[in-house]
Amino acid sequence: MRISIIGSGYVGLVTGAGLAEAGHNVTCMDIDDARIQRLSQGHSLLFEPGLDEMLSTNIVRGNLKFTSSMQAATEHAEVMIIAVGTPSSEDGSADLSHVLAVAGNIGRHLRHASLIIVKSTVPVGTCDKVRCAIQTQLDMRHETIPFNVASNPEFLAEGSAVKNFMNPDRIICGVENDSSETLLREMYAPFNRNHEKLFFMDVRSSELTKYAANAMLATKISLMNELANIAENVGADIEKVRRGIGSDPRIGYSFIYAGPGYGGSCFPKDVRALSHTALQHGLEAQLLNAVEAVNNRQKAHLFNLIRRELKDEFYGKNIAVWGLAFKPNTNDMREAPSRVLIEALLDAGANVHTHGPEAKQEGLELYGELSGYHAHDDPYQAASGADALVLVTEWKHYWIPDFERLAELMEQKILFDGRNIWPQGAAVRNGFSYHAIGRPSLPA
Ligand SMILES: NC(=O)c1ccc[n+]([C@@H]2O[C@H](COP(=O)([O-])OP(=O)(O)OC[C@H]3O[C@@H](n4cnc5c(N)ncnc54)[C@H](O)[C@@H]3O)[C@@H](O)[C@H]2O)c1
Repeated sequence: MRISIIGSGYVGLVTGAGLAEAGHNVTCMDIDDARIQRLSQGHSLLFEPGLDEMLSTNIVRGNLKFTSSMQAATEHAEVMIIAVGTPSSEDGSADLSHVLAVAGNIGRHLRHASLIIVKSTVPVGTCDKVRCAIQTQLDMRHETIPFNVASNPEFLAEGSAVKNFMNPDRIICGVENDSSETLLREMYAPFNRNHEKLFFMDVRSSELTKYAANAMLATKISLMNELANIAENVGADIEKVRRGIGSDPRIGYSFIYAGPGYGGSCFPKDVRALSHTALQHGLEAQLLNAVEAVNNRQKAHLFNLIRRELKDEFYGKNIAVWGLAFKPNTNDMREAPSRVLIEALLDAGANVHTHGPEAKQEGLELYGELSGYHAHDDPYQAASGADALVLVTEWKHYWIPDFERLAELMEQKILFDGRNIWPQGAAVRNGFSYHAIGRPSLPA
């Protein structure tokens, strides 16, 4: 099939590369010229395992091309996929300006019958607006070109995006007629061979399914963080509680880790947007609002633990921070918990020494101008001379630190394990005091 992807960021690129890998003839379009130049050479500048390889292979095979021309993208395709960003507006609603700008552009350039798929995460009713924006442009051109709009939200997780796209759990499709269903079935046939993964439903239910999934996952995280705070205050250990409840198959083990709060480009904005949608319909989404409030409080939790241990004395103190991205295997720092911590530490007058695999550059772009911010290439270099070491993101190579080496390097032996993964016994044996989320602190 001839497919154009409009918006070549995380989702657009993975979708484009994945569909090309499956044999489709794909053109990825973006308004960012510099990005298109880089992508044409096979460089995504995203740290996403397997992505650059898949880009290069399919560029060489000739079934993946890049353009910044909307006309070229529209002429190329029988199916167009909108994958531009939908960031939070100030009032928490999803900003649809990019999606609707793309829809208007499609209407301006459409020459033949097409299926327009909305893959961006959008509030219920957006596909209707997309249809309207395209039709308005066609009417202005006095053209009658048949087109359909379908919803096909994306569920990939950064860090395993290529794997998720190539081997999805489910593919949600919101359609309004059989012809859209036929095209979506054809497009996804290579991903649907082993067993049925396609779920067809009405457009509004499909749009809501994406928000429902993220709201459910964010709720699990905030509930666990709430329980962790209770555990911390009553002298219980949330890790033991986690294992105890996870063994119940009705609860399960996934997404029940206490930590420094959720971040990234999806959960925070999607929880806010869903709450805003509810409000527009006269409903107060009390639970969603609480999920967000708990998360905001949790993002400040590590700083509060450090403040308590350092007795509010931050001037001249060196704090080492391991992990910058909002989760492992990505360089994405959007709404990352590390940012709240780093900003609070810098505000309090501390020197912050960071190590972030793959996100050093992103950290420097945010804080490089600030004199207290220091980025390191090696985690032990970041910890050298530190008064405390804080683990924020659980990259695999932080899991078992060399405590002996840290004990020699650090000025004060204080550890904050923001992911509850370090072996407490080894830390204490090496003279460290150990502080974690929802677990009793252990003195040195
Ligand atoms: N990142 C994720 O993990 C993830 C997962 C599932 C769903 N989503 C959703 O997918 C959508 C895209 O997210 P993303 O993370 O890929 O965003 P992104 O910011 O990485 O990429 C968006 C791209 O769209 C381009 N763009 C903006 N306006 C354009 C226009 N008018 N024409 C052409 N290109 C334009 C931008 O230049 C940018 O390259 C969002 O709605 C997001 O919520 C994201």
